[in-house]
Amino acid sequence: MNYKSLKGLQDILPPDISHWHHIESTAQDVFRRYGFREIRLPVMESTDVFVRSIGESSDIVEKEMYTFEDKGGRSVTLRPEGTASFVRAYVEHHLYNNPSPQKFYYMGPMFRYERPQAFRYRQFYQIGAEAMGVEEPELDAEIISMLSVILQGIGLEGLNFEITSIGCPRCRPGYRNALREFLEVRITRFCSDCQRRYDINPLRILDCKVPSCIESRAGAPPVLDYLCTGCEEHFGRVIKALKLLHIPHTINPGLVRGLDYYTKTAFEVTSESLGSQKAVAAGGRYDSMVKEFGGPPTPGIGFAMGMERIVPLMKHSVAASGAPDLFFCPLGSDALEKALLLTEQLRAGGLWVEMNHDISSLRSQMRKANRMGARNVIVLGADELSRNEVVVKNMMAKEERSARLDRESLLRALGAER
Ligand code: HAM
Repeated sequence: MNYKSLKGLQDILPPDISHWHHIESTAQDVFRRYGFREIRLPVMESTDVFVRSIGESSDIVEKEMYTFEDKGGRSVTLRPEGTASFVRAYVEHHLYNNPSPQKFYYMGPMFRYERPQAFRYRQFYQIGAEAMGVEEPELDAEIISMLSVILQGIGLEGLNFEITSIGCPRCRPGYRNALREFLEVRITRFCSDCQRRYDINPLRILDCKVPSCIESRAGAPPVLDYLCTGCEEHFGRVIKALKLLHIPHTINPGLVRGLDYYTKTAFEVTSESLGSQKAVAAGGRYDSMVKEFGGPPTPGIGFAMGMERIVPLMKHSVAASGAPDLFFCPLGSDALEKALLLTEQLRAGGLWVEMNHDISSLRSQMRKANRMGARNVIVLGADELSRNEVVVKNMMAKEERSARLDRESLLRALGAER
């Protein structure tokens, strides 16, 4: 049998995984400082959870969901994103009863049956954050600032923060009418999906990726021109707060999100180095969603960043911690026993230690140590055992140090004493 992973899914192997760990630990450290706590959600939900919130006419629901019947005949879906699952959990566990703001983060795989291409996968990983219970626009700026701190901490540069407002249920009908009016005389130029969307939800036409649709909608009225007073004031305060926090940003009235649940603020962080899949992270407000899931009206805002798009941007790559601190070369069975014991003791002291397990020649053991990139090597033969002393060879600095054959002395020689 010659099995391969499924199309659009990938294995993440060492040493690349070091980048993933660096991103995750940087994000976790920032989340802690901003008061966000982890929430772990199932990777599967009732299909309805996504259909109702992401929107029936969205590309995700129409084309991209991994939906199937389980053995009990229920329609279930692998989560295409985290916010809908999060809000389901927020309402199910009555988390709205706790004092606001409540702040959560999650990390994990999402699934979308998209056409795989560079930086676009069918299973991809997101780190997401959601803050609940505060409707003030200053929170929006704080969330965008937190995202910027995470991305900077990871070491990314040259990113664009694009922001807009997409209005609320109060101003949306007026905008929808203006858009319909614009589209009406042109609708035959659009693809069949868009023609259908014209009746159900014309806003989705703005998100269509078909080139002729992109061309035909040029000049469509921007939603920013149709905001109600409340949304306009909200957006103005978000921009003011972003300026106060010195977060460079661009107002992009043409920014369209592929999910229906957004209200007011929407944003995307993009990188030109990623070609057509340029969104590194994206998010926005969703002030109506908790109520739609059966909870009390509760505003929310969040974002998610895509791991597979961040990793390739990590140019100044983190030193891949792909090499052991020490490699033991025992010569003979007594030395092998001693090496086994010391290896365990030094690991307990916090070091990554490897040893050779068979009794082979020193040359072949040294070759193995070199191939692993071991930072230090200790050769342990009968002579070293009888003198109770070894030489620690630092392979990087090409230096040698003597040490006694005990844990403390070795840790000291390896520069790892407490
Ligand atoms: P989204 O824009 O659909 O938003 O996805 C967020 C990020 O996930 C994207 O900016 C991108 O980096 C990554 N991403 C999406 N699809 C793929 C893919 N097929 N392959 C690789 N990466 C991908 C959401 O998912 C919202 N839940 C974000 C949010 C949280 N809004 C409020 N709270």
